[in-house]
Amino acid sequence: TADTTSVAGSDFYVVKAQQSTDYDFGLRNSDGSELTNPYTGKPVRSTVWGYSVNGLSAGYLGPTIEARSTLDTSGRKVVVKYINDLRDAAGNLLTKHLLYVDPTLDGTNNGEPEIRIVPHLHGGHTQSGFDGNPLYWFTNNPNAPANGMGGPAGNTVTYTYDNDQLGTTLWYHDHAMGITRLNVYAGLAAFYILRDNYEDSLNLPKGNYEIPLVIQDKSFYEDGSIAYPTTPLLDPYTHLPIVDANGRPVLSSLPEFFGNTIMVNGKVWPKLEVEPRRYRFRLLNGSDSRFYNLWIELPNGSPLPAGMITQIGNEGGLLPTPATVGDTEDNGILLALAERADLIIDFSKVPPGTKITMRNNANGPYPGGNPPDPKTTGKIMQFTVTKPLSGTDTSAATASRPHTPLAAADNVRIVDLQELRDIFGINYDPAGEGTLFYRHLLLLNGNLFTDPITEKPVLNTVEDWIIVNGTVDMHPMHLHLVGFEVVEKGTLTGYIPAALGLPPRYAALNKDTDPAGRTPLDFEFDRNYTVTGNETGLKDTVKVPPGGLDPNGNPDPNNRGYVRIRAKFDRLGIYMWHCHILSHEDNDMMRPFEVVAP
Ligand code: C2O
Ligand code: CU
Repeated sequence: TADTTSVAGSDFYVVKAQQSTDYDFGLRNSDGSELTNPYTGKPVRSTVWGYSVNGLSAGYLGPTIEARSTLDTSGRKVVVKYINDLRDAAGNLLTKHLLYVDPTLDGTNNGEPEIRIVPHLHGGHTQSGFDGNPLYWFTNNPNAPANGMGGPAGNTVTYTYDNDQLGTTLWYHDHAMGITRLNVYAGLAAFYILRDNYEDSLNLPKGNYEIPLVIQDKSFYEDGSIAYPTTPLLDPYTHLPIVDANGRPVLSSLPEFFGNTIMVNGKVWPKLEVEPRRYRFRLLNGSDSRFYNLWIELPNGSPLPAGMITQIGNEGGLLPTPATVGDTEDNGILLALAERADLIIDFSKVPPGTKITMRNNANGPYPGGNPPDPKTTGKIMQFTVTKPLSGTDTSAATASRPHTPLAAADNVRIVDLQELRDIFGINYDPAGEGTLFYRHLLLLNGNLFTDPITEKPVLNTVEDWIIVNGTVDMHPMHLHLVGFEVVEKGTLTGYIPAALGLPPRYAALNKDTDPAGRTPLDFEFDRNYTVTGNETGLKDTVKVPPGGLDPNGNPDPNNRGYVRIRAKFDRLGIYMWHCHILSHEDNDMMRPFEVVAP
């Protein structure tokens, strides 16, 4: 519940980042009994981080903030005072992260404190200064000086969210430079649901029948502590492990993280008892690197009754036309990192007692890698239709909102995604063939995060960004501030990556050069994807399809994936755009853009 008095005309919340030492993720033996910590003999519990909101906390993740769109006269802004209150069980300020901090990334290689946070409202049409710029982090020390990069002094910051956008499912999560993946994995993420009058008038399932679901993957040690793998960092010349002053190996981040358990809302493979009626589920992929291709399945492979599952919304809110997806394995909902899917599932269409399983068949890393194990990462959660119907279900079975297309672009920009070699080698051997790979360095347009800003849209202009993917992975690209249309997707030929102009320190390591020395932007489109139902309307994160390989296994310049997105840049200031694979984002696959005055 908001405090509606402290800040006139706004809902006010105090949100604290806190540590809990006895969180129960629901890890159980197959007979349902508690797993035992082999060291203490007690049931396993986990140390996690999470947000408390006005004193309310679940330990891991955090309470959902509900807000009303100020496009309606009844709407209200939201003011949040965020406090970094990360302490140990004795109440002392933490100085070490819960997880290993790689000391070589941008944002961690200058002696920055390990306990840093800066919250970002993902999908919010937020003023630049309140947007959670990754450099604007702050520590848990109330007396700390400002970091000199825009962060506040002390352990707190107050942000205003204007809510001047259509109703949709947003989420707030940590965004601190170089450790976003660790802070989110530890638990600093939660929902923020924005409602509006139009949506209210549609009579969608609400109250107990409207449930946000965040899907994440995790791994654990035997004692229940959360595990996030690392590997020794290798010297770029000798390939020997680099050691610290005490002779211990310095550990490195990995290119991606894939956990071996799936959790929904912080519980491993949960079961939800439902009534025989319609429910609205707002799905979010809040994982580090794992894509999910989701569908619901009846026991014994029985076909799903028609109309049992419908996708009515994505990141931008209700779709212009609902999409029939998630009903079979071949028609799954491919949910990339940070994407949302607003679903109506009608449990009245199956007999009482039916068990319905939400399943996943997306490979990790996507689209390469191994398929998930149907017994573990191939399962998300179960619904059982065991509750009696508490009243006639008069809720709507579907909903949509007309979308007025944006004007044609004032400017077209071509930006590309690059996977290069870092200066550090790591003993990363994905195929188990003894091949030593260099550590990834993931760049946008060949630029590091710290290079000068190159994307500067003029205020209130519409721009098309053609995002070209020269890598073999699909990357979910996210722009702050704007909702964008996905105009087209396809492959293109003859594209020369912008990374040919790399700074000299990386050019020598670039495996994606053009021996003929051609110049960029001489290429042809070959449109062969359709922008399907659940990618219409407005999105804030888009899956950029991968390019192909040449016969030598290198990225093939004649086969690159691309998407063309269109957005109106209607607020001044600096914002981020980045890959939402959090391990990529933390390894330089993030850049600022700046909306400038005409
Ligand atoms: Cu969900 Cu820049 O982030
Ligand atoms: Cu990526």
